[in-house]
Amino acid sequence: MGTVDLLITGGNIFWKNRFVEASIAIDKGKIVAIGKEPNLPKAEKTLNFKDKIILPGLIDVHVHLRDQNLSYKETFESGTMAAAAGGLTTILDMPNNDPLTISPESFNMRVNSARGRIYVNVGFYSLLPGDPTDFKRLVEMGVTAFKLYLNKPYGNLDISNDEDLASSLLLCKKFSMPIAVHAEDYAIISKFEEQFKSLNLSNFNYFLHAHSKEAEIKALLRLLKILKNLNYKVHISHLSTAEAAKIIAENRDYFTCEVTPHHLFLDSTVINRLKGFAIMAPPLRSKSDITYLWRSLRHRIIDIIASDHAPHSLAEKISENVWKVKPGIPGLETMLPLMLDSVNKGLLSLNRLVELMAENPARIFRLPFKGFIDIGFDADLTIVDLHRKWLINPSKFMSKAKYSPFNGFEVAGYPFATIVKGRLVFFNGEIFERAGEIVFSKRFSS
Ligand code: DOR
Ligand code: ZN
Repeated sequence: MGTVDLLITGGNIFWKNRFVEASIAIDKGKIVAIGKEPNLPKAEKTLNFKDKIILPGLIDVHVHLRDQNLSYKETFESGTMAAAAGGLTTILDMPNNDPLTISPESFNMRVNSARGRIYVNVGFYSLLPGDPTDFKRLVEMGVTAFKLYLNKPYGNLDISNDEDLASSLLLCKKFSMPIAVHAEDYAIISKFEEQFKSLNLSNFNYFLHAHSKEAEIKALLRLLKILKNLNYKVHISHLSTAEAAKIIAENRDYFTCEVTPHHLFLDSTVINRLKGFAIMAPPLRSKSDITYLWRSLRHRIIDIIASDHAPHSLAEKISENVWKVKPGIPGLETMLPLMLDSVNKGLLSLNRLVELMAENPARIFRLPFKGFIDIGFDADLTIVDLHRKWLINPSKFMSKAKYSPFNGFEVAGYPFATIVKGRLVFFNGEIFERAGEIVFSKRFSS
């Protein structure tokens, strides 16, 4: 082998399910060799990560990058810088944009707008288009996954109609497309929301009433019935209640699922103090839900940790009227630190963290050559300092959303460097190259 582009040395790498002291040779964005340094080819450049841990590039399957007409909340630049600073090398962008990502035309526009502006790899979701021809074209154009919102109608898909849902899900099955679902029932949420609004009941508790546990359970059970008929599996976004986790545990043929750090670490009592900064959908739940989510995590009922990074402007978060607050919080720069802190506290192992944040996302969302450190895989690497203690300080976020319910948390575990396709994007607090590539899926109808 001639000279390669880059050698990563000195660190402990996660290779074939265990940590080993070895170096990684990278050429043209791919891992080309792994071994002890003397046995590896010479390189143009060497980066030494002594005392650091080198993980496969972590993947966040749930990110709202905004941009286009929502650039005041976040842009492709600010959002992917935040991802790099949070130790993520690939993220999947949600479709509830302005304009909506829902057609071949809008998908194309969004992808073209992102080109040349991204620091980490980005794959794109689309909403389910009503029209089967549009669906097929979106698949051919390389959309990574579809998103079904059961909490709010988008486009001309009638989410109250089981047959319409079944035919959309059947298309996903036909094209082997991953589909993520926001499982909260629109009929329940909207009924309560309208009622409370008409009575001028606008304090934060009413948001919790409207977004009840029943709303999550009902959406999930309704979906389950359709999926049993179709014999297809969907991915449940941001699982939040114990009851929903039980339904998923009993129906693993039909569901994979993710949980967010905010649902794992914060219960709804923090809303009294944090107000709009702790409002998101689904909302924060009780302490017993949290305990059950952690139990489900340990029992491998939960497949993925995802941030649901949903940035809004400060003005959109500070109202005392909960119906004027936009639900959602930034999460890209706090997810990995919080999870590393949990590793330090003995709540999960580093191996399990890799499973939840790299291997399972790559497998469930069918991202080829991602999720593992191995020869032939993409040279996406997340380098962490497992023991560094620091304070979460949102004013230093790369994201435009410079607030967080985790403000002031002391954590052990720091995303030290981020390498995307063999290029150094983030190193010890500083951002470098826009090395991100757009991830296009290749899928063929059966
Ligand atoms: O909290 C949320 N924010 N939940 C959603 O379903 C949407 C998201 C957003 O886009 O802001
Ligand atoms: Zn979301």
